[in-house]
Amino acid sequence: MKINLSVKIGKIKLKNPVMTASGTFGYAEEFNDFINLKRLGAIVTKTVTLKPHIGNLPARTCETPSGMLNSIGLENPGLEVFLKSKLPFLKKLNIPVIMSIASIGSPEEFIELAKRLNKVSAVDALELNISCPNIIGEKTLISQECEATYKTVSSVRKATNKTLITKLSPNVTCISDIAKAAQSAGSDAIALINTLSGMSIDIEKRAPKLKAVTGGLSGPAIRPVALKMVWEAYNNIKIPIIGMGGIMDTPSALEFLIAGATAISIGTANFINPKATIEIIDGLSEYLKRKKIKSAEELTGSLSHEK
Ligand SMILES: Cc1cc2nc3c(=O)[nH]c(=O)nc-3n(C[C@H](O)[C@H](O)[C@H](O)COP(=O)(O)O)c2cc1C
Repeated sequence: MKINLSVKIGKIKLKNPVMTASGTFGYAEEFNDFINLKRLGAIVTKTVTLKPHIGNLPARTCETPSGMLNSIGLENPGLEVFLKSKLPFLKKLNIPVIMSIASIGSPEEFIELAKRLNKVSAVDALELNISCPNIIGEKTLISQECEATYKTVSSVRKATNKTLITKLSPNVTCISDIAKAAQSAGSDAIALINTLSGMSIDIEKRAPKLKAVTGGLSGPAIRPVALKMVWEAYNNIKIPIIGMGGIMDTPSALEFLIAGATAISIGTANFINPKATIEIIDGLSEYLKRKKIKSAEELTGSLSHEK
C-alpha cells in the first residue's frame, strides 16, 4: 500500500509532517553527522534577531522530572551572520527552511526582519516567535494578549508574501482566543506550544538552578498540556497547526496528529536521541500501513469521542 506522508502548510509542501523545533536543532549543520537531513519534512531554525544577541548568563539549562528547563534567552548571531554563514548550508538540503524570527525590545524589528527576508529565496517560511518566556525584563509576551498578537501578526503579514507561522505560548488563559487573533491577522499556520514557565531550586545552596531564576519547561512533562492546547485550537481555527511539546517517539507524535496537528516539531527529544526525527518519520509510515490509512492528512483531527 502506497502511503502519502506529505502535508501543506501555507504555500509550502512538506514531504512528511516531521520538522524540528526552534532552538533544539541549531541551524541543522550540527546534526549532519547523525542523520540524513534531507529526509526531514522541514527545518525550523533557532530564532534569529536583527542584531546578534548573547542571551542569558549560565547556568541556562537544568534537568527536571521528565523534562528540562532552559533560559537560553534567544542567543543567536543576528540576521547578517545567519544569511552569510548559516543559510547556504540549509539551502543545499533542498527541503523547506522555516526561519524563526523574534524582536528584542521593539516589535518594529519583526517588520524589518520580515521585509528583508521577503527577498531571500532560500527562506521558505517565517515563524514568528512571539512566545519566548526567557527575555529578561519582558513581563508580558506578545502572544499573551489577543490585541498585541493581532497587531504584530498583521503588520508582519503586510511586510511579507512568505508563508507565515505564528508560534504561541502555553502561558495563557485561553489558547483558542490567541490562535483566533493570529488567524484573523493573516497567519497561515499556528505553532504550539512554546515552553511553559517554570523554576527549579538547588536545596543545598538554597539558590535557583538557573541563573535567570525562571525558565521554560519542555519535554514529556508538558506533553498533556500541549496536546490539550492543540486539540482546543484545532476545534476553533481553520488554519493548520504545527504541534509540539514533549514528542519523543512515534506514539507521542501520533497523539498530536490525531488531536488536530497537520505537522509536528521535535524539540527536547533531539538532545536525548539525535535520530528521533528520522525514527518518527519511519514510525508514522509503519503506523499508517498497519492501520490501512492512505495519507498523513487523514490522521489530522481524527480523534473519535462521544460528547
Ligand atoms: C534549549 C531550548 C531552546 C529553545 N529555543 C527556542 C527558540 O529559540 N525559539 C523558539 O521559538 N522556541 C525555542 N524553544 C522551544 C521549542 O522550540 C519548543 O517549542 C518547546 O521546547 C516544546 O517542545 P519540546 O517539548 O519537544 O522540546 C527552545 C527549547 C529548548 C529546550
